[in-house]
Amino acid sequence: MTTSSRAYTIAHLPGDGIGPEVTEVARDCVDTVALSRGFVVEWQSCPLGARHYLTTGEVLPGAALDELRKVDAILLGAVGSPDVPPGVLERGLLLRLRAELDLYVNLRPSKLRPGVTGAVAGLDPGQLDFVIVRENTEGLYAGAGGTVHRGTAFESATEESLNTRAGVERCVRYAAELAARRRGGLTLVHKTNVLTHAGDLWRRVAGEVAAEAGLTLEYAHVDAACLYLVDDPGRFDVIVTDNLFGDILSDLGAALSGGLGVAPSGNLNPDRTGPSVFEPVHGSAPDIAGTGRANPAGAVLSASLMLDHLGESQAAADLDAAVSSVLGAGAPDTTTGWEDALRAVLNARVGAR
Ligand code: NAI
Ligand code: MG
Repeated sequence: MTTSSRAYTIAHLPGDGIGPEVTEVARDCVDTVALSRGFVVEWQSCPLGARHYLTTGEVLPGAALDELRKVDAILLGAVGSPDVPPGVLERGLLLRLRAELDLYVNLRPSKLRPGVTGAVAGLDPGQLDFVIVRENTEGLYAGAGGTVHRGTAFESATEESLNTRAGVERCVRYAAELAARRRGGLTLVHKTNVLTHAGDLWRRVAGEVAAEAGLTLEYAHVDAACLYLVDDPGRFDVIVTDNLFGDILSDLGAALSGGLGVAPSGNLNPDRTGPSVFEPVHGSAPDIAGTGRANPAGAVLSASLMLDHLGESQAAADLDAAVSSVLGAGAPDTTTGWEDALRAVLNARVGAR
């Protein structure tokens, strides 16, 4: 690999509230591992979000989107403020980025790390380490449906779940490749006994893709999967599922592995026809913004997913291990406490090599 192929332009979209606080820490961590692992990161600042919207009226101007298309990855904090009506930024920025950049996989890893209390008592770290691969562009979130006779007794509202063979296949293919790199477990979660049309498509396509990849496809109905995730999470390695089930299961996964502060995510374009977006699962947390109490772990772990996606797997592992190590030693209460502890661990790792 040449030196130049290991130079990355990353857009930093800090957003609002604690978004800038946590992504600042993540950025520092990325710079530290870039230096020690020998690659170059050029950051491009992207001031979108509630503050930008309230001062300019712009959510995602065309010029900003064009700039974003050119970068190698996007690190996002969180957007949102009580002063912006719900939906404006979600639809205008987050969902629009998913559509424009074809971010068809939502990646949500859940790992119980030493020192972390998850929602289930008595689990050992190691008994809970799975990844949810959620289809991110279709299903019930595709926007198909409508309302007729609104406001009358006969008002009717429909939401249709759109599932295309191509859309299902590319998502399952990503999940199968991920499973092959992990422990080889691939579970399809759906509700095929009731949702017989979409379920049949998902089942056939997942079966074909798994067979091609040499994997045995496991299957669980979504309701049973909720029970297993709590009772016996060790049975899961990679879960692949549709947009709605994935949305719900991912939050269960976050609760099981220590909550919003530590949960990372990636919105991926696995075909690499454009950048992918990495962001902690939490929002802008206006209730604690500015107090110095934001936990940056979810942002740092999101940066780790980003480095892995860029092919910098050692640097990604450095960040992941650093977060585990800080959590294992008793997580700091403050953002600066986290920053200091992460820096100390990362520098010690460099020294040890
Ligand atoms: P939230 O995730 O911002 O906060 C929920 C609760 O968790 C709050 O009590 C907060 O203090 C706490 N919390 C969240 N992250 C934390 C962290 N890193 N460290 C310590 N505590 C943390 O969700 P909420 O309150 O529903 O939404 C606040 C704003 O964020 C809204 O405007 C919402 O639309 C937006 N939002 C944006 C998202 C995004 O940008 N992808 C995702 C979720 C919400
Ligand atoms: Mg959600």
